[in-house]
Amino acid sequence: MSSDNIDRIRLCSDVPEHVAIIMDGNGRWAGERGLPRHLGHREGMNAVRESVEGAIAAGVQILTLFAFSTENWNRPPQEVSALMQLLQHYARREGEELRKRGVEVHVLGELDRVDSATRRAIETITDSTRGGITLRLNLMISYGGREELVRAARILSERVRAGELDPDEINEDELQKTLFTRDVREPDLLIRTSGEFRISNFMLWQLAYTELHITRVLWPDFGREDFFEAILEYQNRDRRFGSVRSQ
Ligand code: FPP
Repeated sequence: MSSDNIDRIRLCSDVPEHVAIIMDGNGRWAGERGLPRHLGHREGMNAVRESVEGAIAAGVQILTLFAFSTENWNRPPQEVSALMQLLQHYARREGEELRKRGVEVHVLGELDRVDSATRRAIETITDSTRGGITLRLNLMISYGGREELVRAARILSERVRAGELDPDEINEDELQKTLFTRDVREPDLLIRTSGEFRISNFMLWQLAYTELHITRVLWPDFGREDFFEAILEYQNRDRRFGSVRSQ
């Protein structure tokens, strides 16, 4: 690897353990080239590979990608179907390579809404990569932050109704344990591509103290050097979590 940036990242001990990405701009990327939107998503798959490789090279431990939101179900049926097929294609084409690279894939979201062929592909890639220790890759599919919090409220209420939990015992820890991301730390860094300054219903609970990096680069053009730039910028931030700087 010949990147100067990767050397600079490694010189600093503070590599973000968990990086999350809102992958945005596939449609615009295709539009600028007079191509149909689904070709933008297809090109976006290469950018997924770039970020996975970048994360491994930088020593990031968890990479979370917003691949399909609950709102995305409202897109035209052809686009939804193209995105589901792309996920299946990714699982088939990349599963073996991810396994070899020590990437453990998790797919998180309301998967009941996903068609059976995509669910099978998800099962295959999660089963075949289980036990990978280099990088945990969370693909957020049929995921929405508000829906996740409503689900959390429902799970906690059921436990109260069953007499397993006293309402006075409900605190941040108890709620955290009901989230799709219950077994991973909160993201240290959130990257959003395509220059939009929005969270778009992504990980509303988990992003409370996450550092944000917003770039104008459209997702299909986002390469590993862009990923390294985001980490370098993060390494210059002063994270205080609502407190004051330590002296
Ligand atoms: C947002 O761009 C992107 C998506 C809705 C889908 C993200 C999917 C991929 C990157 C493809 C494959 C992913 C995996 C994990 C295999 P947009 O369509 O909203 O773009 P626009 O805002 O320019 O219209």
